[in-house]
Amino acid sequence: MDGMISASILALTAVVAPVWGRLIANESSESLFLANDRLVTSVSKSTGSINHLTLDGQDLLGSTDGRAGRGPYLDCYCVPSGFYTPGSKNAAYKLITGTDKSGMSYGSIVMGEVYKPTGQLLEQYWFLRDGETGLHTFSRLAYYNETTPFIRNLQEFRTLFRPNTLLWTDLVTDASFHGPAPKPNPAAGGSGMATTVQDATWYLGDRKGDPYVEQMSDYFTKYTFSAVWRDQLAHGLFADGTRGSDAANSTFGAWLVMNTKETYFGGPVHSDLVVDGILYNYMVSNHHGNGTPNITHGFDRTFGPQYFHFNKGPAGTPMEELVDDALQYATPEWNAKFYDDIAHHVPNYVPSSGRGSWKAKISLPEGAKRPLAVLAQNGVDFQDNAQDTTAYQYWADIDASNGSVSLDRVKAGTYRLTVYADGIFGYYIQDDIVVTAGSVSDSGEIDWYRHGNAPDPTHPLHPSEYRIYFGAYDFLDDFPSGVRFHVGQSEESRDWNYIHWSVFGGYANFRRPVQEVLGTDGSSINNWTISFDIDDTEVLQGTSEATLTVQLAGAKTAAGNTDVFNATERYNDLPFAVSVNGHELEPWIIP
Ligand SMILES: *[C@@H]1O[C@H](CO)[C@@H](O)[C@H](O)[C@H]1NC(C)=O
Ligand SMILES: *[C@@H]1O[C@H](CO)[C@@H](O)[C@H](O)[C@H]1NC(C)=O
Ligand SMILES: *[C@@H]1O[C@H](CO)[C@@H](O)[C@H](O)[C@H]1NC(C)=O
Ligand SMILES: *[C@@H]1O[C@H](CO)[C@@H](O)[C@H](O)[C@H]1NC(C)=O
Ligand SMILES: *[C@@H]1O[C@H](CO)[C@@H](O)[C@H](O)[C@H]1NC(C)=O
Ligand SMILES: *[C@@H]1O[C@H](CO)[C@@H](O)[C@H](O)[C@H]1NC(C)=O
Ligand SMILES: *[C@@H]1O[C@H](CO)[C@@H](O)[C@H](O)[C@H]1NC(C)=O
Repeated sequence: MDGMISASILALTAVVAPVWGRLIANESSESLFLANDRLVTSVSKSTGSINHLTLDGQDLLGSTDGRAGRGPYLDCYCVPSGFYTPGSKNAAYKLITGTDKSGMSYGSIVMGEVYKPTGQLLEQYWFLRDGETGLHTFSRLAYYNETTPFIRNLQEFRTLFRPNTLLWTDLVTDASFHGPAPKPNPAAGGSGMATTVQDATWYLGDRKGDPYVEQMSDYFTKYTFSAVWRDQLAHGLFADGTRGSDAANSTFGAWLVMNTKETYFGGPVHSDLVVDGILYNYMVSNHHGNGTPNITHGFDRTFGPQYFHFNKGPAGTPMEELVDDALQYATPEWNAKFYDDIAHHVPNYVPSSGRGSWKAKISLPEGAKRPLAVLAQNGVDFQDNAQDTTAYQYWADIDASNGSVSLDRVKAGTYRLTVYADGIFGYYIQDDIVVTAGSVSDSGEIDWYRHGNAPDPTHPLHPSEYRIYFGAYDFLDDFPSGVRFHVGQSEESRDWNYIHWSVFGGYANFRRPVQEVLGTDGSSINNWTISFDIDDTEVLQGTSEATLTVQLAGAKTAAGNTDVFNATERYNDLPFAVSVNGHELEPWIIP
């Protein structure tokens, strides 16, 4: 099979390389096949996964070995027992070909499997269009079962491009954060010298000559390369041409382009894994405390489109150029006409005729920075929008100079508008808005705690410190006397830690395996002291009441990732105590 495909592609490229020719779509008893002049791919009917992918004859995937050497393919944490990869049992396949209204031909492979024990339908769509070197993907989950109306939460729903080749050299969150992959990469199945410190997190500091260790950190975890959805547009894998690429030493890129975000959940603050050796499209997860929907009778949602883009540059082409090439596709307007033309093949996809626009001019409070407007499920905090699995979400930066904001291609419906900005406490909320859609743009960063955005000074790639596994920073070394912050004199980036520890060390702390309650000077680690001066004769004259506001960005308790209270877990009901001038307030119990 392999030999056959590469032979036919060599023949094609030799004859018609610069001009787009016909699109080929065919099927055998083992696989389904799609190809245009440059991109060739096939889906195996025994696994439900793409098992072959070449660009200009270069194999981008490697050979299938268990779960490696596949993709993009669908998997989920959605059946009663947990993880499931559809396609190997009871799957039905469909091959589609057509020509869109612009005259471009396209082909599509559809895999659908009904998971027998529950009746859940899992579907994956891959579209290849002539003139493009990427795959448009949609993924669908449907569940109709009145007698058992509830299965579980949809804890993960994702497509993975999971290569099994030495070709790829770099992991790219975006053009501003990227680095060499560990060599070998434990997250992509490579062993080598690595000590597991906790789930999917390794200490690699004993390796010699590993470019990741030299340039980034001793610690490697899939979370280091994660991203926040607000400004995320494309992430991926880069091949610098030094490892097994084609004879001309070309560079290659594999990118997940988030051209639409409307079918994800959690709004702009959703953060998730994007690349660790595997390239991900995380449509749903409970990572980082993200909300997940329940799978109940009537659940029927199609996620996407997203676009897996593959590109190639002449030897020495920098990664940034290949990222820029991918970024041109990262808007909901791109290919909207094509999606309209294929909408009849994709259940639940909302064509342009079902969309409108929304505009507003918002008067922003003084000092508002990076203001954002979000449209999402009506009546709830946008972070909880997984409650309504028919609701979509949109956001856009507000022009800070005049407060204007607009969104296009919004699915017709009723939305909550939420406006927030850096430097302004709280949200502005307005329900029952009938409105529209948009895309995202880039933003600045602020550094307001130790180990936040500050660049790690000790490695040449200078990753922002928050990206590195927490075990790299020793709280007792950083704060021998605990956190004592004096407003006006202390500096946030030095004197305010990024985590308020209750205790420090123990499980998953490679350097400090024994848990400490006290700092090196004997003070309690969990006791943070904040002081400030007041000129009481002027400021407090005639005042008998004052308000102190304490905000938590997030808390880790027994509720864990799922955010579901479990009374039998240890460390539930975490008391957070605030004492003012020695008077302790009633503790806030965090479930
Ligand atoms: C599919 O098309 C490719 C390229 O033309 C060809 O090599 C292959 O034999 C075809 N397979 C089937 C099953 O027709
Ligand atoms: C509904 O769910 C139950 C329990 O999982 C299962 O036994 C039954 O076969 C399902 N019904 C259908 C129509 O799939
Ligand atoms: C490709 O790289 C190899 C090894 O670095 C080098 O010998 C060769 O000249 C390069 N080929 C081209 C076409 O650049
Ligand atoms: C899922 O169901 C559980 C149990 O009924 C409920 O507590 C939770 O709020 C539901 N979650 C969502 C997102 O609807
Ligand atoms: C707001 O200002 C931007 C330039 O900063 C301009 O492009 C836009 O047209 C203005 N919008 C309104 C409604 O005044
Ligand atoms: C916390 O530390 C401060 C000094 O920084 C001390 O005055 C206070 O008594 C401590 N509180 C507790 C509960 O240990
Ligand atoms: C609650 O936690 C206990 C202990 O970890 C676990 O055995 C149990 O399955 C959990 N229950 C739920 C509903 O998650």
